[in-house]
Amino acid sequence: MKRKDTIIRPSTSHDLQSVRAHYGPIDNLGDPFCQPAITKKPRLDWLIIAEIGGQYAGFLYWHIGEKPFFAPEVAKFGHIRELQVLKKFQEQGVGRKLNENALVRLRNLGVTDVFLSTSETNDVAKHLYERVGFRQFRKQIQYRFAFS
Ligand SMILES: CC(C)(COP(=O)(O)OP(=O)(O)OC[C@H]1O[C@@H](n2cnc3c(N)ncnc32)[C@H](O)[C@@H]1OP(=O)(O)O)[C@@H](O)C(=O)NCCC(=O)NCCS
Repeated sequence: MKRKDTIIRPSTSHDLQSVRAHYGPIDNLGDPFCQPAITKKPRLDWLIIAEIGGQYAGFLYWHIGEKPFFAPEVAKFGHIRELQVLKKFQEQGVGRKLNENALVRLRNLGVTDVFLSTSETNDVAKHLYERVGFRQFRKQIQYRFAFS
């Protein structure tokens, strides 16, 4: 059931505690879209928060960059790095609201293209992203070399 009392708002430093308790630090150096310098310290202006009835419900974090190596014709791009909704607030429209809100904000910041990636087994995330208008852009293969 969709909740009408969901608010999406900019973050403050107080939100980092809720985000870390929910997900851990926003820090993914392995992300191929990102420069390590960007990910060491989360930027509050790239983080938005969902709240339901005054309670923290989830977050979305992006970064903004220029001319990505995989699409150098794109002058200014956004990359949605992470989207997480607390289990008790899932399936109530929060993830979709966070996503739609992020797209509006990124557009207003002059971004022309937004990228994100998700696991091919994450059917809920894939459904959500396609519903808001994302289309598959390319595929990435993760390799593993096991010594044992
Ligand atoms: C993926 C995630 C963010 C979705 O958030 P959410 O608030 O539950 O999603 P919403 O309620 O906005 O639902 C969005 C759509 O997905 C559908 N959906 C949500 N959960 C679903 C489920 N468990 N099974 C089937 N469909 C589901 C909704 O029906 C809705 O579809 P619709 O727009 O066609 O009606 C949330 O499940 C989550 O935090 N998962 C763990 C972290 C994760 O996988 N993040 C994505 C990383 S890329």
